[in-house]
Amino acid sequence: MGAGIAQVAARAGFAVIMRDVADEFLVRGVKAIDKSLQRDVDKERLNADEKGAIIARIKTTTDIGALSDAFIVVEAATEDLAIKTEIFRSLDKVTKPDAILASNTSSISITKLGAVTRRPDKTIGMHFMNPVPVMKLVEIIRGAATSDPTYEQVRSLTERLGKIPLDCQDSPGFVSNRVLMPMINEAIFALHEGVATRESIDGIMKLGMNHPMGPLALADFIGLDVCLAIMNVLHDGFGDSKYRPCPLLKRYVDAGWLGKKSGRGFYEY
Ligand code: 3HC
Repeated sequence: MGAGIAQVAARAGFAVIMRDVADEFLVRGVKAIDKSLQRDVDKERLNADEKGAIIARIKTTTDIGALSDAFIVVEAATEDLAIKTEIFRSLDKVTKPDAILASNTSSISITKLGAVTRRPDKTIGMHFMNPVPVMKLVEIIRGAATSDPTYEQVRSLTERLGKIPLDCQDSPGFVSNRVLMPMINEAIFALHEGVATRESIDGIMKLGMNHPMGPLALADFIGLDVCLAIMNVLHDGFGDSKYRPCPLLKRYVDAGWLGKKSGRGFYEY
């Protein structure tokens, strides 16, 4: 998702620094951006020069210190509280004191991330949807201490990125994943209990509810590890058994069947 966010920001004219922990991830990210923009060149919605200019606006680095001049950082690391808090601590040290620190987290508390920095007022959630270049929504999450000016700046930035900001309070899973993930988890339970085949479950939801993808295909697309992490955040956060992750989801993640990105999930890729 980080590459998708870098892409939309560069396309909107911003200078972008894409930072990751190893070069191989940066190479993969730039490749994904190239492929995504090429779709628009092929459809004659972008010319090759414009595509080149967008990519040229994206610098890559493994050095977090390279973000020292950024006016905003959008963190899009693994959905793991310990990793994200470590990153926020580092960002707080290396960035300008007035820089905004945003997280693309799917479900982790923005209040907790803000609390490890000296600028909880400038910490906010900017939750993009997959695939980032296509999906219009950015869910904007205000932590307990997020200030009104930070919220207003992020809202207007989101609009400049060509996206639609919709806001909510900081609560486990926010709105998007509080509603989406239990549906996906229930579809996995239906498969687990032999209620229907994967094709029937997905077909019923596509044809019956007009969803662009069935819930099992969508889970593969999001990543089964991400789905499990979000269910765990909902389960821990609300302490309600209705959010217990399906054992089949756990088993797939244990097996390394993480969906599209690993070549196998509920479907084979
Ligand atoms: N980059 C750029 N463009 C892309 C793209 C990408 N990675 N993937 C698809 N597109 C574009 C195509 O070029 C095409 O554009 P056009 O209609 O303007 O010509 C359009 O999207 C549709 O693509 P396709 O015709 O190839 O395929 P589909 O019609 O099946 O659409 C889809 C693909 C947009 C992914 C659609 O299936 C969809 O909307 N799926 C549901 C996605 C969804 O629910 N996302 C949210 C997931 S939850 C989340 O992200 C939150 C997180 O916290 C878990």
